[in-house]
Amino acid sequence: MIKSLKLKNVGPAKNIDITFGERLNIITGDNGLGKSFLLDIIWYALSRRWPAEVNKKLNSGYMAQPLSGERGTISFDLITDNNKKIEDYSCSFDRKKWSWIGKAGRPYNPGLVIYAHADGSFSVWDPAKNYWEKRDNVDIQERQPAYVFSPPEIWNGLEDDKGTRLCNGLIADWAGWQKEKGKEYQTLCNTLSHISPPGETPISPGELTRISIDDARDIPTIKMPYGEDIPVLFASSGIRRILALSYALVWSLSEHAKASKLLAQDTTSRITFLIDEVEAHLHPKWQRQIISSLIDIMSNEPYQISKTSKVARRSPVDVQIIAATHSPLIMASIEPLFEPEKDAWFDLDINEEHAVEMFKRDFELKGDAENWLTSKAFDLKSTRSMESEKLIEEAATLLDVPNPDVKKIKEKYDTLCQKLSPKDDFLFRWRFICEKKGYLK
Ligand SMILES: Nc1ncnc2c1ncn2[C@@H]1O[C@H](COP(=O)(O)OP(=O)(O)OP(=O)(O)O)[C@@H](O)[C@H]1O
Ligand SMILES: [Mg+2]
Repeated sequence: MIKSLKLKNVGPAKNIDITFGERLNIITGDNGLGKSFLLDIIWYALSRRWPAEVNKKLNSGYMAQPLSGERGTISFDLITDNNKKIEDYSCSFDRKKWSWIGKAGRPYNPGLVIYAHADGSFSVWDPAKNYWEKRDNVDIQERQPAYVFSPPEIWNGLEDDKGTRLCNGLIADWAGWQKEKGKEYQTLCNTLSHISPPGETPISPGELTRISIDDARDIPTIKMPYGEDIPVLFASSGIRRILALSYALVWSLSEHAKASKLLAQDTTSRITFLIDEVEAHLHPKWQRQIISSLIDIMSNEPYQISKTSKVARRSPVDVQIIAATHSPLIMASIEPLFEPEKDAWFDLDINEEHAVEMFKRDFELKGDAENWLTSKAFDLKSTRSMESEKLIEEAATLLDVPNPDVKKIKEKYDTLCQKLSPKDDFLFRWRFICEKKGYLK
């Protein structure tokens, strides 16, 4: 888990100095201000790898480069898995070596880290499978550094450079789990059901099927509300996002439990989940539910990391979520669960000096998504169309002078009636003033 982060001369904001909430962290900000970049940096801090370095197929998650002509530094505090100690680390960019250089040796173990990128890629750092070994007090870096999946690889499987199969992928694993009807299949079904919006038919697996006589794969299906079983490969973008997220969670937790068992060691007590554009492809019904579902799925019984056979489970698992969003509904949906002692909201914005700055904002309740749109999170002046906003400004200006032009007011009234909803608040108030002053009869 990450406790704090300081950046100097890297990324759109020249200086960042933030302390994270131990549970939920939300990042807002306009396009291009550095939300995804910040998640990449946090992933680096936790795993000490850049996603695009581990998997060259990625089109995001490249190594951070400092601003030209400046000395870039990245410093952070982590809460380690084994003893909850807070460890600090700092590195600076060495232009000659073209890499980030800090204290040598085995990095700290921050617990399990899962990163859902905005484009459907996933990165997983497993403390049982990716952590350096210590042999006779010497650090040995032999293991796979991390699991970084491009979007097709999360579905079809991942191999390393030598062709070793690292992960079977959603299609093969789901089909295998369903045939075995074991713990993974149960956890996948529970996760899909838990993540589905209340009051709707939850996503549930149908019968395995074939999609072509030339394709020998048994393809998982999902039951649709209209009574058909649809192969997961035909599912819509929103459903595919949910399926991939659920699979990545179940795969990461189950692989971690299996590896811990082989190593005869405890499973982790900490999970950090980074998720970019958490609302991506999701209908508002799903957006209202996704954050609370993710917290529940990762921290509650029966979804908890399963116990290894020889060693007792450490319970409960601490879950830290760091999510970037553009969605006012996501902000409104976390109002009931936001606790300032555990959670934090960070907003990237342009400051008075026209530079990008990261603000830690007080989380005030706004009540609904519309109020969030006009809050500091999204900085909209109005939630109407641009045309309606302009019309309203013009209508308001007409009343700003002591003796307004009544003919123009009548014309504007006709336009407002055509363009705005009859229930529009502004229209209602504007007409009231005009009638009271005798401009409209
Ligand atoms: N590897 C890198 N090294 C240095 N700076 C980078 C790197 N990658 C991205 N950036 C900076 O981050 C900016 C893009 O930020 P980012 O993609 O994080 O925006 P965002 O807030 O996620 O926007 P959106 O909402 O559109 O996704 C770039 O314009 C560049 O300044
Ligand atoms: Mg982004």
